[in-house]
Amino acid sequence: MSNHKIGVIASGRGSNLQAIMDKVAAGVLPLEIAVVVSDKSDAFALERSKRAGIPSFVVERGQCAGKREFEEKLDGILRAHGVELVVLAGFMRILGPDFIARWPQRVINIHPALLPSFPGLDAQGQALRYGAKITGCTVHFVDEGMDTGPIILQKAVPVEASDDEETLSARILREEHKALPEALALWAAGKLSVQGRKVVIEN
Ligand code: GRF
Repeated sequence: MSNHKIGVIASGRGSNLQAIMDKVAAGVLPLEIAVVVSDKSDAFALERSKRAGIPSFVVERGQCAGKREFEEKLDGILRAHGVELVVLAGFMRILGPDFIARWPQRVINIHPALLPSFPGLDAQGQALRYGAKITGCTVHFVDEGMDTGPIILQKAVPVEASDDEETLSARILREEHKALPEALALWAAGKLSVQGRKVVIEN
């Protein structure tokens, strides 16, 4: 049986994409990264996918007439590559309700905080400024809200008194690189089901 196909959308450096690629290459994550798409032509994620021989595409929002066209292009590329699950790995845009409706429980995101705390941009800075002692990362299904979808898994990370955004982000990122492949492994094994706003993980 062939592996499930995922598509990864990234806007930047792509270290989470790399974490997935490494697990796939090591033979411990039974899926195929069928395509990588970025909304930024200079995203290092594109370089990583090229090196790994994964088809990659740029869809820039500014080159599209509007959000609808942008999302239709994304959707077309993902479908043309047989993608079953869309993974947002550092994608810095919000997908609209039309796109989400076309991919029900088929889009997941990694967020650098323990949701529902600190949604949106600069989650690490938000945690620092708030004075949180523990933060972390969350992998969740994406719904129409901003970082509000059903939670698949979370990993906690301590905030040290000496932390700045850089040190805290680096500590969280190490856990992101574990959490995202773990969540994908559960999905690939068919162990995730969504009941209401809860994700049930089969043993
Ligand atoms: C990560 O912190 C992710 O949680 C957030 O954006 C960052 C992307 O990092 N959404 P990378 O591009 O995967 O290295």
